[in-house]
Amino acid sequence: MQKSGMMKKERIRRFSTARIIEHLLIIVTTVTLFATGLSQRFWTFHVSKWFILKMGGIDNVRFIHRFAGLIFCIELILHLLIAVMGVTFKQWQPTMFITKKDFADAKHNMRYYFGFENHPARCDRFDYMEKFEYWTILTGGLLMILTGLILWFPALVARFLPGEIIPSAKALHSNEATLIFLLNAVWHIYNSIFSPDVFPLDTSIFTGHISRERMVREHPIELAQMEGVDIEKIVENNHRSAAGQEEAKPSPL
Ligand code: HEM
Repeated sequence: MQKSGMMKKERIRRFSTARIIEHLLIIVTTVTLFATGLSQRFWTFHVSKWFILKMGGIDNVRFIHRFAGLIFCIELILHLLIAVMGVTFKQWQPTMFITKKDFADAKHNMRYYFGFENHPARCDRFDYMEKFEYWTILTGGLLMILTGLILWFPALVARFLPGEIIPSAKALHSNEATLIFLLNAVWHIYNSIFSPDVFPLDTSIFTGHISRERMVREHPIELAQMEGVDIEKIVENNHRSAAGQEEAKPSPL
């Protein structure tokens, strides 16, 4: 009993079921968009030809891309609506907003990596890197939707705006897709899979839970607020238990 009580304390709820479902839907939609979009752009590649044939031809690929694009629009609009309503009517904290502290934290960590600080920056619910990733994906997503809609309805757009906007939208949509793909592959996949802190997979967005040890390391301000204690106490306890663990290690000899 006591053991399970202790284990409970070690796992902390970080994401709600709604956030877990939202993230799963975004994964499915964006993987579909990347596969069906990039295979059109790089159609001369063997893998693209193979993919297009497996999907039953280019018409099917284009149809699936537009359908997934529509789902992506709905997901993004819902995400923004729920965030605005939550902050306005339910007193949710706008924790993704970039503040002065994020710049200070980034500077602090640079100094830490060069050995001028003795501990990493103490962050709140989302650190400056998570915020950077969120805003690049959100603004990039909105741009993809805008340019995607222009490509979808070129005749309608050309009735109101100069025709040059259509090739510009195509260049933006196509190049930004490649850019987000590389950014996602390098940054997001590294942070959630290959980073030594989380390897082999950061499961928090799938299970909704995170270990207390990671909370102390990555989000000590939020943990201190959740537990109603001073942040210094959280960090100090962590140092003490880390030192205890060091001492308790069996001798390798
Ligand atoms: C992560 C999001 C997305 C990615 C990575 C992506 C990627 C791409 C790529 C690489 C192309 C080929 C461009 C070229 O031929 O050079 C393309 C075409 C296109 N995309 Fe997207 N796209 C995304 C979202 C959207 C959205 C949200 C929409 C609609 C609202 C959309 C609608 C279109 C349309 C209409 C085309 C033209 C091809 C066709 O006629 O079917 N895309 N996309």
